[in-house]
Amino acid sequence: MIVADEPAIQQAATSLRGAGTEVEALQADLATTEGVDKMYAAAKGRAVDALLANAGRGLGHAFLDQDFKKAKRVIDTNVTGTVYLIHKVGNDMRRRNAGKILITGSIAGFIPGSFQAVYNGTKAFLNSFSFALREELKDTKVTVTCLMPGATETEFFKRAEMMDTEVGTTEKDDPAEVANNGFEAMMKGEGDIVSGFKNKVQSAAANVTPAGVLASQHRKMAKPGSAKK
Ligand SMILES: NC(=O)c1ccc[n+]([C@@H]2O[C@H](COP(=O)([O-])OP(=O)(O)OC[C@H]3O[C@@H](n4cnc5c(N)ncnc54)[C@H](OP(=O)(O)O)[C@@H]3O)[C@@H](O)[C@H]2O)c1
Repeated sequence: MIVADEPAIQQAATSLRGAGTEVEALQADLATTEGVDKMYAAAKGRAVDALLANAGRGLGHAFLDQDFKKAKRVIDTNVTGTVYLIHKVGNDMRRRNAGKILITGSIAGFIPGSFQAVYNGTKAFLNSFSFALREELKDTKVTVTCLMPGATETEFFKRAEMMDTEVGTTEKDDPAEVANNGFEAMMKGEGDIVSGFKNKVQSAAANVTPAGVLASQHRKMAKPGSAKK
């Protein structure tokens, strides 16, 4: 079952079916409890082997200049909807003592994201939450894996209104490769996977760099107008 909040999810299902897979597409707003309930109900009580909690969105610009409704939607999608979904499906997995959960965090979670402050905060939440839940489930056969990508070539930066920034306009990672890395780590039951060598170095450096320095570095790539002409 694949879920998104736009009708284009049906086209995604059609192309995935081309690979000979049975695919059910569902349009649901996972930023809301109603949307998560709709998705849960659509599974009709079938045992979920793997939950890939990936839906998320970003939002650029200085926090005080952001439309608060959009900022709240980032939190509702990335944090509230995601943890509600994991709470529902995770309880079923624990009862069955089987299942795999993949949470898409981000290396952004290691960096205070000036000019993307709310988004980076939500990813810091998810990175932390993922490791905590994994520890709580360590005596069960349910595994929790956190995928932490770096900047990846998707619709993300356009939707986050960041196409005038350096990070929005420079070359990014291949989304299929990132997804594959996450999937493989989930199947192996690993705790986390930072996709790509450059991102591994960046996340390791972030762990030993003062937060104020990281926030100042983030400004250079995320401030509106920072795109290289
Ligand atoms: N791209 C990057 O550089 C990057 C880096 C690190 C982490 N990530 C994370 O990777 C995940 C996927 O993002 P992406 O890069 O693939 O961006 P994307 O191209 O914008 O895709 C986001 C996906 O999430 C779905 N989604 C968003 N809000 C939703 C909602 N309320 N209900 C249901 N589905 C919703 C979207 O569905 P619709 O298309 O129907 O809206 C879409 O399938 C996110 O969690 C993001 O934070 C991205």
